[in-house]
Amino acid sequence: MTSGKPNVLFLLPPGWDALSKSLFGHAAFHSVLHGKDHYAPQQIDYFVGFRPPHGFLKTLPRLKAIFSLGAGVDGFLRDPEFPRHLPVVRFVDETLQREMAQYVTMHCLIIHRQQRAFDAAQGESLWRQRMLARPSREVRIGLLGMGDIGAVTAERLQMFDFQVFGWSRSRKDVPGVTSYAGPQELPRFLAQCDIMVCMLPLTSETEGIMDATLFAGLPKGAWVMNVGRGGHCNEQDLLAALDSDHLAGAVLDVFQTEPLPADNVFWHHPKVTVTPHIAGITDPRNASAFVVDCVARAQSGQPFPNVVDLKRGY
Ligand code: NDP
Ligand code: OXD
Repeated sequence: MTSGKPNVLFLLPPGWDALSKSLFGHAAFHSVLHGKDHYAPQQIDYFVGFRPPHGFLKTLPRLKAIFSLGAGVDGFLRDPEFPRHLPVVRFVDETLQREMAQYVTMHCLIIHRQQRAFDAAQGESLWRQRMLARPSREVRIGLLGMGDIGAVTAERLQMFDFQVFGWSRSRKDVPGVTSYAGPQELPRFLAQCDIMVCMLPLTSETEGIMDATLFAGLPKGAWVMNVGRGGHCNEQDLLAALDSDHLAGAVLDVFQTEPLPADNVFWHHPKVTVTPHIAGITDPRNASAFVVDCVARAQSGQPFPNVVDLKRGY
């Protein structure tokens, strides 16, 4: 850490070895792996991670910028001691957006084609044919959050003829998508959703948005999917809406507590599909390129793209 190069500290989530391998030994900076390398906190220039422990970043007095390995930055901003004077650059990546879109499209197709019923019938060796309830062009999918990921998802869903609606803070002009904006238009948006997908960032305004009131605003028999954050969903309200048969089912990739505890009721709920926060998987090569680009920009005084607006929280 005395070479004159900037020191970049990596605090990587488990399973991220591929990223560290491709970055270590990079000529332009000195990489320090938290938990493995010995380092002096006062010599760290840049931080790379996803959900550092609260209070951790304030222990790095020389820090100049933070590079998030995720598109969502709530893992940083929810730290009450987060150093708010520093720029946070989020990972905005086409591969990640496509993977998210793929996950949502796949589950919309599974729902639409009633695949879970065929899986269950196969489990009983039953040749049980079913008609489609309606063609996909009559299935209305509402995207709660129409940002970078929402826009790609809307495009993919339309390839399968689904009708797509979006809800965001500001009005959008996305081909083929009916746009609703702001809290006053939320009820009209919800009333249109056969499948509602949450892909919002977690902020003070969006926390708990998927609650009893929202579920009641969806048509009876609707499905919900959450790929945003567990903090968006009031899980007790969701269970109540499922168990009362107001909702037909839920696909959940994110949870209030992750990893989802083994005794959580969602694991075995007959109307719930659980996946372990894998809707969008960061490609280590793209993440490496992102870090290299960020450090190069910082060192040459160029502006960063995708700097988080700390007031909005995304
Ligand atoms: P963006 O910042 O590009 O988009 C966010 C969208 O949410 C925008 O359309 C924004 O509206 C809207 N929004 C934010 N706050 C409000 C509000 N109060 N009311 C209405 N709309 C609001 O984010 P991305 O699309 O890149 O990512 C979205 C989220 O997806 C991430 O924050 C993360 O939580 C999650 N994610 C999950 C992954 C997984 O594996 N499960 C992987 C990657 C991301 P406007 O455009 O008007 O500002
Ligand atoms: C992200 C995530 O925010 O993987 O990118 O959750």
